[in-house]
Amino acid sequence: MSRFVDQYGRKPVVAVFAPGRVNLIGEHVDYNDGFVLPFALPFRTIIVGDVVRNDSHAQTSSVTSCNMISDHTATFTCDSSLTKGEPVWANYVKGVVSQYVNDLPPGSAFEAVIMSDVPLGSGLSSSAALEVATATFLEKLYKIDAISGVTKAKRCQLAEHTFADMPCGIMDQSVSAMAQEGTLLLLDCRTKEFKLVTVGSKAPSGTPLPVVVICNSNVKHTLSGSEYPDRVRQCKEAVAALQRTYPEITALRDVTLEQLEFLNICDADSDAKNHVTAVPTSGDFVEKVAVKGSSRTRHTAARGKCENKSEGDHTALVSSMSELAYRRAHHCITEDARTVAAAHALEEGNYILVGGLMTQSHLSLQYDYEVSCDELDLLVLTALGIKGVYGARMTGGGFGGCTVNLVRADCVDELISQLRQTYPACECYLSTPSSGTDELPLDSAMPVITGAVSRYGDSFGDDTDADWLSVRVDGVVMSIVDNPWITAASVAAAVAVFGIIITRRR
Ligand code: GLA
Repeated sequence: MSRFVDQYGRKPVVAVFAPGRVNLIGEHVDYNDGFVLPFALPFRTIIVGDVVRNDSHAQTSSVTSCNMISDHTATFTCDSSLTKGEPVWANYVKGVVSQYVNDLPPGSAFEAVIMSDVPLGSGLSSSAALEVATATFLEKLYKIDAISGVTKAKRCQLAEHTFADMPCGIMDQSVSAMAQEGTLLLLDCRTKEFKLVTVGSKAPSGTPLPVVVICNSNVKHTLSGSEYPDRVRQCKEAVAALQRTYPEITALRDVTLEQLEFLNICDADSDAKNHVTAVPTSGDFVEKVAVKGSSRTRHTAARGKCENKSEGDHTALVSSMSELAYRRAHHCITEDARTVAAAHALEEGNYILVGGLMTQSHLSLQYDYEVSCDELDLLVLTALGIKGVYGARMTGGGFGGCTVNLVRADCVDELISQLRQTYPACECYLSTPSSGTDELPLDSAMPVITGAVSRYGDSFGDDTDADWLSVRVDGVVMSIVDNPWITAASVAAAVAVFGIIITRRR
């Protein structure tokens, strides 16, 4: 707010926010038409602004970022000539503007300031938060109605494809656009239909609610930068291979484990690469964690079917699927099943099952999908050794970023302290499901430092649901929304251990 006043000499007329997200389970399946279970974080990107009022600059929009890596102003015109360029962060804004060009009055130009507390490059969707905040900003500033949450998410996804060269799925933009406070979003990435999942809503009364602890490794292995597009391509190759036998399949979402194993066994028999024994970790893992029944049964059943095929059929299947494609497909198929099961178990209050599914998910991402890294594996392993931790896994695109842990409320302190002891560079966030993008009252757009921890008890619990608190000290950041996921008592205890400053919105 004050930055806008300093830079543009007047008060902004619109303020909006869009949140980052954490994905509890359902990783790398959104671009395979699968199921995901993310929730919106209290970390937000905020945009304040106004239309250009100075006639001499009428055609040029100007956007200033307060903390996107460096302080920068980007200028551009809102028309079909928009192209990506420098600074890189502005491509997310320009990409979204290009999606809205046909909704804007001709010659539109705006001035805006952006501020974000979504950790950058940590797999918590700072990009989607910026895209969705830009979309909401344009809608509010130019009074563009009737854009549904799904349309907004699709436009933002397209912006990322075209202006950031990132062939992402629809998860991040959907949850930033459509999340509702206190709930997770079980999203069907094919139909875009979703169910709001409330933790413990069907649990026996008195079942204590668990806590989600996000642990940021603060590493980002960029590798060649092509790992994500590679995974997208490998999944397409797996679909193409499967389609030769099952033409009705359009995405990995459609494939059953039986179909996958059938093809796999036929391939294995025909060229002497037997996946039952030759894909060590994933194969062993499949046997231990298959959601329904043991994979050995399926291998045997599939082998039987394969042997019954005529020679012609069999030849048609030879070399139809590489080992790599098999493992990628195997992750996606099992991850979909885990995600749907986890959503159900979360409502039922079966946190042991949810945690088990999360941990299976991590192993599948580590071995079958190969998107984890040493730091994330260490953080997961450390967490799993702590009493009261139901499950742990990497979250987001991988190769660095964060882990997500489901833990009993009374074991949070121990978990955070062990994680920091094993891996001192990590940061922990205690987060609860928060709301999706919206307009903000202008006077509440910026966080206000209200006091020290000792005042915490006075300000929590008797305010409205709009409360947003974050506590930062010595590498620990806790973001807390006034809802029942974390009880006032457990938060107060955690704050007493770690907190010094409370940042409070509204
Ligand atoms: C990134 C992408 C998402 C999704 C995740 C992995 O965050 O933007 O679309 O694919 O990775 O689940």
